[in-house]
Amino acid sequence: MAPAEPNAQAFKQQGEVPYFAEERKGWKGYIEWEKYPEKKKQAIDILKRYDFPVSPEFQMVPLPKTNPVLEGVRWKYYHYAMGPTLQDLPDISWKYVLKEKSPDMIHVLQFPYNGEPPRDRLTAITPNPDFFVRNHGGIPEIEEDEYFFDVDGLVNDPKRITLKDLKDESKFPRMTATVTLQCSGTRRIEQIHEYPGDGDELINAPWGEGAIGTAKWTGVSLKKIIKYCGGLKEGGQHVEFFGADTYFKKGQIFNYVVSVPMRKVKINEVILAWEMNGKPLPRIHGFPLRVVVMGYIGARSCKWLYKINLIADPSMAPVQMKEYLYYSPQIGKHNNTYSNGFSIQTMPVSSAIMTPLNHDQIIHDGKIKLTGWAFSGSGWPERVEVSGDGGSIWYEVPYDKMSRKYFHAWRVWEYEMPVDAEGWLEFCVRTWDNALNTQPTYVRSAWNWDLHVTSSCHRIKIYSMNRLKPATAKRLKQCEERGISILPITQPLEMDVETEEEYLEEMKKREGRDPIE
Ligand code: MTE
Repeated sequence: MAPAEPNAQAFKQQGEVPYFAEERKGWKGYIEWEKYPEKKKQAIDILKRYDFPVSPEFQMVPLPKTNPVLEGVRWKYYHYAMGPTLQDLPDISWKYVLKEKSPDMIHVLQFPYNGEPPRDRLTAITPNPDFFVRNHGGIPEIEEDEYFFDVDGLVNDPKRITLKDLKDESKFPRMTATVTLQCSGTRRIEQIHEYPGDGDELINAPWGEGAIGTAKWTGVSLKKIIKYCGGLKEGGQHVEFFGADTYFKKGQIFNYVVSVPMRKVKINEVILAWEMNGKPLPRIHGFPLRVVVMGYIGARSCKWLYKINLIADPSMAPVQMKEYLYYSPQIGKHNNTYSNGFSIQTMPVSSAIMTPLNHDQIIHDGKIKLTGWAFSGSGWPERVEVSGDGGSIWYEVPYDKMSRKYFHAWRVWEYEMPVDAEGWLEFCVRTWDNALNTQPTYVRSAWNWDLHVTSSCHRIKIYSMNRLKPATAKRLKQCEERGISILPITQPLEMDVETEEEYLEEMKKREGRDPIE
């Protein structure tokens, strides 16, 4: 699949074509914005020349059944408008999707690329090609030999560090940790379906259950690097990370910048990682170096890291200050501010059923196998419960049917759930973590206008046909004998369901249709 039209060639530049030089040799697609207010202003003026197409309305109407689901035309245009340095990024980024990701990924948004794996490939450690991707811009192409990042701000001895330095074990001890990254958009589609919300400047990707994955990340604890830079100066309380991609927000332009409190660093919960599951980081996941923050929203795990800045307060960059805010249900477009939202950092307990899928029609013998994941950002999933009746009767997933526990990773689970009832049933899952936290009951209980963190019990509707029931067994046998499929249930059955003789005999037993006077 080629990147969909329009493309950079078809885009009509307004006025002179701008040229913004790349900041570093061997760093294609990296324009430094944060250091140069004048350059930012120039770019903002360019953006003002255009009437960019609005993002499509997809929350009030059914989602397109396309792959990519959404295209991101507006974001392509932003990049085209910036001239030759950024205009190829939509194509380059797509090239890496095709090269590095599984061919059957669900492309939620083509550009900036957002994708999640098919549900049936759930494993305790997610293979790199199946790992979800959440990008806000294009993928910079950085040569490993030309790579370095700067450590600056409230440290005693600011330094420039290369990847070679970082990999030198005489300088830095290496660590590997199994860590789950979860996007706060995971399962957003459930909120969209029930109650649409903020149509944000960056299209709210309609994620399903797959915007989460677990990998073994290898790198160096950030704590060691700060020590190597002479330790903190007084007041250094937060760490700001700068990513080399370009981020557009409300007519302005930035690099991707976020921050985490130093507290996380001091307890060795922030890694600078160059390996993912024993392999070099794929480009789409941040090559050559990314941050991995344990237990926090994926947004803080900055990819294509080029700078670390020690600061006194949380970053004022838009991704940190204006994005990834969680509003309580009565706060929205009519009354929100940046300060009255929670800044999403530690991820709450959540879980999902990965198979079966919503609306599956299942023929079974009194048991249906469920698979899924369970995660808690502040601890670990201790107990997973599933229900076949919308949440009245819960079955505990046995301990040996859950993958091993880690401090900062999900547990995948499977369970053969007893299912007697037939027809449409609502299956759901809820998880308890080690601190007894569990999940809100319904989407409505935890709906939030920015449509983040869908952590309510995950519910799916399935159609149950139980072969242990004589009538069902009989119908299935009839179908089998005639070579007819009973699926899908939405298509009429190609045969009469009773002969006239059978009908009359049965009617007699039931004393006719109407009462006898
Ligand atoms: N880092 C940069 N530089 N740019 C980005 O767009 N996206 C963030 C984070 N780091 C992002 C980034 C978000 S929102 C998430 S959820 C994770 O990366 C996703 O990581 P992955 O794409 O490697 O799965």
